[in-house]
Formats: sequence, structure tokens, C-alpha cells
Amino acid sequence: MAHFDKINGKFKGKDILSLDQFTPKDLEIIFSFTDKTKEIAKNAQHSHVLSGNIVTLLFYEPSSRTFGSFAAAIKQLGGQTIDILNPQQFSSVVKGETLEDTIRVFEAYSDAIVIRHSDIGTAQKAAEAASFVPVINAGDGIGEHPTQALLDLYTIFEKFGRLDNLTAVIAGDLLNGRTVHSLIRGLSLYKNNTIYLLSPKELKLSVYDKDTFIKSGIKLIEIQNEVDLPADAHFWYWTRVQKERFQNEKTYQAVKNKFIVTPEMLKKYGSKDMILMHPLPRVGEILPVIDEDPRAVYLKSQIRNGMYIRMALIALVLGKL
Ligand code: NCD
Repeated sequence: MAHFDKINGKFKGKDILSLDQFTPKDLEIIFSFTDKTKEIAKNAQHSHVLSGNIVTLLFYEPSSRTFGSFAAAIKQLGGQTIDILNPQQFSSVVKGETLEDTIRVFEAYSDAIVIRHSDIGTAQKAAEAASFVPVINAGDGIGEHPTQALLDLYTIFEKFGRLDNLTAVIAGDLLNGRTVHSLIRGLSLYKNNTIYLLSPKELKLSVYDKDTFIKSGIKLIEIQNEVDLPADAHFWYWTRVQKERFQNEKTYQAVKNKFIVTPEMLKKYGSKDMILMHPLPRVGEILPVIDEDPRAVYLKSQIRNGMYIRMALIALVLGKL
């Protein structure tokens, strides 16, 4: 099992690879700075917090949201980015350059590296190759997506004022969905959380993940039918079936969109005060008509919070806050 350096209140210079590195206190610190970065962004304030800083955005996998969110976060604070998209097609990687060498090159040009890759563990490999700058995991295959979980947790905290004593529904591709893996780790840091996991049986959490999460004390209830949804969930976290992780189209088609949020479903099983979240992109698993429902936050606060939290995280890791 991977060993990650704990943050323990000291963000400066730390790689951000997994939610396992955080304590509730660390989340409290980042949330309180996020309250401030939110004001900077909302009021279009000139900020020089990251002036002089350059961050490399090294994205081996398709991304528009997370890439845009990091780029905007850095620019909001007066920093600059080096944008490397699809290096496997457009850079020296085509010539056979190793990941380690690519990392060493970009740490010479910049103060931090944000990396997304299709293979689990790549962010950690990158962090090991970097000697001078922190590395931030923006999604490593079916592994983790820690900054997404930070924004998800912040969104939940904003609504309920706590991250303990919550009942949640997480639905979709629990086997391959890295955002789910990081979010469950985050919710496991707090007491008395119960998560209903709704998925087709082919897309349940892996046995390894399930055992790991249960050991951390969180209550997980696996269900395969929407009639077993709890009536009192504080939030629903819907996810896309991760097509790119399937070997062939047929197996994907067999399990895609088994559970679609419709007005009827929300009416029958949703509570009045809950929120409905999704990391995006969605591909049919929440009907567009739901967007108007005040409980649907995925295209509203949840997406905005991504930029605010990344502003706070980058500034903390670069020692600017
Ligand atoms: C998620 C991802 O890349 O894991 N998207 C994102 O970061 N906004 C979720 C997904 O692709 O389904």
C-alpha cells in the first residue's frame, strides 16, 4: 500500500496525492482559506498571492473542467501556468521520454506540478521523481482525485456546517470512479457517517477498497436497487460510468445508466433538505430537468467551489498563505 506523507497542518512543499494525508484539522485550515479565496474570485479582486509563481499543468488524460479549474485558480491569484495537454501526443513523450525525465524538466521551469494520468499510482511516481517542487494529483486512473474530494467536502460542509453524522448516497461507477474513492476516504475521517453505495453489481467497490474503507470506521451499505435508498440522506453523489476504463463497448453498454436521477426518483426518495452532487461530466445519469431543482448543486456551488478550493490549496502548498 502506498505511503503518503501526512500534512499535519504543514502544507508548504507537500505533495497532495491522497485524502489519506489529511486530518479534520487540515480540512479546517483549507476550508477557512477557501472562504477567503472565494471572496477574491467573486469580487474579481486583484490578487498577487501567487505573483512570480509558475505552475505546470501536465495532463495526460482528457480534461476540461479540472484543467480549467486549476488554470483559473492559479490565474485568479496572479500566478501563471505552463499548459501541457496530451504530452503523449505532442511532446518529447512521443520520442520515448520517461515520466521521470518529464517531471525533472518541468520542475526546473515551475514551482509546482499538477498531474493527471490514466494509470493508478502515476502521481506518486511523479512525486518521487520531483526533488524540488510539490506534485498535486489531479486524478490517477481509477485511483484518487483528491482535489475533487476537497471541493466535494467543502460543498457538503457549506450546506450542513459539519462533516460528521451524515447519511449519504453515492451512486454509479464505484469500482472505477476515482472521485468516489477520495470522497469516501474524506468522509471516513469523521465520526458516524453512513454511506449507501448504489451501483450495478459489476461496478461495486473493489474488495480491497471496501475492506480498507470499512477498517477506517465508516459504515457502508451496498445496494443494487433504488427501492433501498434511504429517505433521510443529506446528500446524493451521482457519478458517470467510466467508459474509458472498460475493455470493450459491450460490457460498458451492459452497465451504463442503470440508475438515472429523474424528478420521480427525487420526489420518491429524496429529502427536502438534501443536496444532489455530481463531479461532472454527466452523460445521461441525471436528467437535465433536474438542473432547475434548488437541491441540484453540481452546476452551481459545487463547480465554483472547485476553483476556490484549488486557489487555497495551491497557495498553501507554495507557502503563500
Ligand atoms: C472526474 C474525473 O476526472 O475523475 N471529473 C472531473 O475531474 N471533473 C469524474 C469523471 O470523469 O467522471
